[in-house]
Amino acid sequence: MKNFLYGIDFGTTNSALAIYDEDKKEIVSTIIIPSLIYFPEDVEVSNQKKYVIGESAISSYLKDGMKGRFIKSIKQILSRSSFTETRIQNKRYNASDLVSLILIELKERADQIIGQDCKKAVIGRPVFFDDDDTQKDTLAQTRLNKAAIMAGFTEVRFQFEPIGAAFAYEKTLTKKENVLVADLGGGTTDFTYLVLDPSQVGSKNRKNDMMATGGIYIGGDSFDSAFMWERGTPHFGKNTLYEATPGKVLNVPKSLFANICSWDKMNFFNGLRIKKDMEDYYYYSNNDKNFKNLITLVDNNLGYSLFQAIEKTKINLSSKNTASFQYSNMEIEINENVSSEEYQNIIDKDINRITAYLEDFMLKNKIKSEDIDSLFLTGGTSMVVAVQNIFKTKFPHLTLNSGDNFKSVAKGLAYSGYLFENN
Ligand SMILES: Nc1ncnc2c1ncn2[C@@H]1O[C@H](COP(=O)(O)OP(=O)(O)OP(=O)(O)O)[C@@H](O)[C@H]1O
Ligand SMILES: [Mg+2]
Repeated sequence: MKNFLYGIDFGTTNSALAIYDEDKKEIVSTIIIPSLIYFPEDVEVSNQKKYVIGESAISSYLKDGMKGRFIKSIKQILSRSSFTETRIQNKRYNASDLVSLILIELKERADQIIGQDCKKAVIGRPVFFDDDDTQKDTLAQTRLNKAAIMAGFTEVRFQFEPIGAAFAYEKTLTKKENVLVADLGGGTTDFTYLVLDPSQVGSKNRKNDMMATGGIYIGGDSFDSAFMWERGTPHFGKNTLYEATPGKVLNVPKSLFANICSWDKMNFFNGLRIKKDMEDYYYYSNNDKNFKNLITLVDNNLGYSLFQAIEKTKINLSSKNTASFQYSNMEIEINENVSSEEYQNIIDKDINRITAYLEDFMLKNKIKSEDIDSLFLTGGTSMVVAVQNIFKTKFPHLTLNSGDNFKSVAKGLAYSGYLFENN
């Protein structure tokens, strides 16, 4: 038996696992899967797997005509104390049960590569799972730890995700530097300020090198929600008027649309409960075409495919000045252009909050711009132009370094084996 350790980055959008060979002191392979779970509606054949994870979750869900339960951004429920469990296919699933399905998939794939059952894992966690409420934070880590044990790990350590990212960057350095690392993912934006030194990679005590860590609960999902609210919901009747009583015309309640703008609501949203209300609004709106789209969206579970279109627009705007927002399904027809300036306005509030957080983080930790030798940005959201501009504006004297936006954290976690040593 050889000695292996897994670095696991369980992410809001993507989850990655880096296999570290402890004897050779090197990463053997890195696996990445989308953090998606799909429970088909009819599981008739008893020996058929009851759920599908990762890329095949998308293909199976689409093949099944978007029926069943499709769960995205599951990491966001880890800190929700109000979420206890959900019933799927007549079985109860709590947060750890759901998360363990992703970890099991990663572990199975990795164990297959190394040909043995690896029990040791360094698991990443954001600096704050939600806001800086310690109770919620403890709950989230406890749930994640349980999920790791359910997945078959017996030796588990936690490491801050941005420190993982930093360790991956450290491998590429040639000299000692003070580095500000920002990891901008689907759910959270995390910062760490630390001393990196290529001669220290994997060494025992890194505590003194960590100068500051912080984070905020904003990421690519927040941008997609903001886009859905501004540019998506008008196509689903956000501005629809209906006749509440004879002669009295009102706007349909905006609260109806909150459910279709964010994944933590959408995952467990039961459209059937408000179906009657929606039909009434539709009737009294004189069969408003946009409002009908909302009924079609909810009835046919189209949320994921619509958000794919939203994400595509965002991704295109990372490299182009305009992009189209296009969605065509079951009589819902959206086709409009979005300029990078318009996009910037839509996400402006989130960008300002990230900027304000970064300024506060620097002030609180007495970090001066001129003391920073280099910047390392990672995570999918670091590709958004407005995000890059935060750093270009604040640190005009520094270049933005980046590596593998989706695997850096897992790799760096795999270099954190020192966490298992007692000292
Ligand atoms: N080219 C791109 N331009 C802009 N955004 C992108 C691009 N590619 C991916 N994204 C966004 O990046 C996010 C996913 O990034 P990443 O995989 O780093 O997140 P994560 O690690 O799963 O999340 P977290 O670390 O917050 O838990 C998604 O919101 C996705 O839409
Ligand atoms: Mg991440």
